[in-house]
Amino acid sequence: MLSQADNERLTRIGPGTPMGNFFRRYWVPALLAEELPEPDGAPVRVRLLGEDLVAFRDSDGVVGLVSAFCPHRRAPMFFGRNEECGLRCVYHGWKFDRNGTCVDMPSEPPDSLFKSKVTIESYPTYEAGDMIWAYLGLPELQPEPPGHELLRTPATHRSVSKSFEDCNFLQCLEGGIDPTHASIMHNMNIGDRSFLNNFDELVANIQLEKTNYGFTYAGIRLRSNDTWVRGYHLILPSFHMRATVEGSFGNRDDGPTIDGHIWVPIDDEHTWVYSFGYSHDPARPLDKERVRARETRLGRGDFLDKNYHPRTNKANDYEIDREKQKTKTMTGIHGINTQDFALQEGMGQVCDRTQEHLGTTDRAIIFLRQILFESLDALESGGRLRAVDPATYRNVRSFDRTIANDADWRTATKADKVTKY
Ligand code: FES
Ligand SMILES: [Fe+2]
Repeated sequence: MLSQADNERLTRIGPGTPMGNFFRRYWVPALLAEELPEPDGAPVRVRLLGEDLVAFRDSDGVVGLVSAFCPHRRAPMFFGRNEECGLRCVYHGWKFDRNGTCVDMPSEPPDSLFKSKVTIESYPTYEAGDMIWAYLGLPELQPEPPGHELLRTPATHRSVSKSFEDCNFLQCLEGGIDPTHASIMHNMNIGDRSFLNNFDELVANIQLEKTNYGFTYAGIRLRSNDTWVRGYHLILPSFHMRATVEGSFGNRDDGPTIDGHIWVPIDDEHTWVYSFGYSHDPARPLDKERVRARETRLGRGDFLDKNYHPRTNKANDYEIDREKQKTKTMTGIHGINTQDFALQEGMGQVCDRTQEHLGTTDRAIIFLRQILFESLDALESGGRLRAVDPATYRNVRSFDRTIANDADWRTATKADKVTKY
């Protein structure tokens, strides 16, 4: 349970809010690279951390990210002409390059110096891992570009997609790091329902540790002959990785993959969920057809419209099938992703955490909040922030394996965490 004030502190991300300031210390994905497929192509609207922006790929192929409104009389830059290394407002023709400099002002006399005094607000971008990242913070605090292993994998070895989620980022993030719901809500074969009575099978023992990039945690299940350990990482502000067992992309030849999400606040009430997967093994690229099939199975892929909004959503009750729910699956909702969205969005645009009752298996959620509060305190007192320096997480990798019952999971899984890219 949180006080109303603490809930606001953790969830509001607009300019000048504590969490908004926190996100503005990091690079965050602003859009998929595929949304800007070619130089001088159509600009795209981007709403990010409560700010309305427009992205365009200029003649050099570099992406500019500028205010959605022209600084002249606030006309929409979305309708602008993307030409010769700049975006020209079509109202009176003012043109701005990707750094926000006004490079042409045809509506003023040719000898006017007004042009040199006007800029459009712009943010730096960085293209990597099929995403365009942006930094919305103070220029003097701009960190090194992001350094996740995902961004160094060859394009043949990774897949990245995004979907719109109709609620505040924190309930998405809390859903992502909650290991307990997976074996209950995502159960696709409820059979005689006896699985719900077996606590040891159902709920992993969770071990958590703070790190200099955020935290790591392991879900540990003791079995008769061995111990199954799944190790996760949360790289602040909102990059989550989990290891997936052999064949998760539906093809054993793909080898083990690392999967995860990056949750990016659109504004206080909406979120972009970037989903990624990449192959551990340089010798084994992903089979893109199978990746696509899996995306659809999860409730992404073909379930998204051209604006990356799920077609199965709040408005149609996620097409819940009550018969299926009685007989086959816990939720009666198709696709793990859709199941997550149904429950997370159903909490309301911003979950009212003053009304919740956290139990023993919510430790990861409590831990996350502690680290976020610590981060906000550090931000306010000028202290060091985790994961701003990409060196802190460059070589971080999640893991999934069985170990001997008497082994220490940290030692036994060390080799799994060595990156290869
Ligand atoms: S409003 Fe953009 S040039 Fe006038
Ligand atoms: Fe889930």
